[in-house]
Amino acid sequence: MIDQQIKAVIRDIADFPKPGIVFKDITPILKDPALCNGIVDAFIDQLKGTRVDVVAGVESRGFLFGLTLANKLGVPFVPVRKAGKLPFSIKQKVYELEYGTATIELHTDAFEPGQHVLIHDDLLATGGTVTAASELIEEMGGVVAGFTFVVGLNFLNGKERIAPLCDKIVVLAE
Ligand code: PRP
Ligand code: ADE
Repeated sequence: MIDQQIKAVIRDIADFPKPGIVFKDITPILKDPALCNGIVDAFIDQLKGTRVDVVAGVESRGFLFGLTLANKLGVPFVPVRKAGKLPFSIKQKVYELEYGTATIELHTDAFEPGQHVLIHDDLLATGGTVTAASELIEEMGGVVAGFTFVVGLNFLNGKERIAPLCDKIVVLAE
């Protein structure tokens, strides 16, 4: 099963990037092409019946599978970036992270009002990042189609936090 394959390769790194944080290192996944393809196929399988017009991937690790997922779904990919990286006109949102605060931004032409935007990230921790992305997308007139993650940290209750935002939540390994 894909969840076991993911869990078998991700590494726990203690006290990174701050003391007390156990960092889930997903980079070993990226060295396994079959597993990468399996991850994207698992997302596509679990998204059957869900309208997705655009995939929004969250910087930076959300870009890794987000673009491939969008390509395979045959829809546009748009980057949700940290502050100051996007060159065109932007909308932004400040949010809390497990280890600090951050600001995310989207280009104002990322999607059309009324389009269904899937939010993708590598990992669900507190849910703060994707909650901010969801709020930003809705403020810009989009509809949140769902959330997809490779990994979820259950003990931080991110799923409970984002459940009111959209009922389509895919977490491959938790
Ligand atoms: C990590 C991860 C998610 C977010 C999850 O990103 O890739 O985007 O934190 O945390 P949350 O659910 O508590 O919001 P990070 O900000 O470390 O950036 P990176 O992807 O560039 O490493
Ligand atoms: N993003 C937020 N918390 C994280 C963690 N514990 N491991 C990897 N990425 C994260």
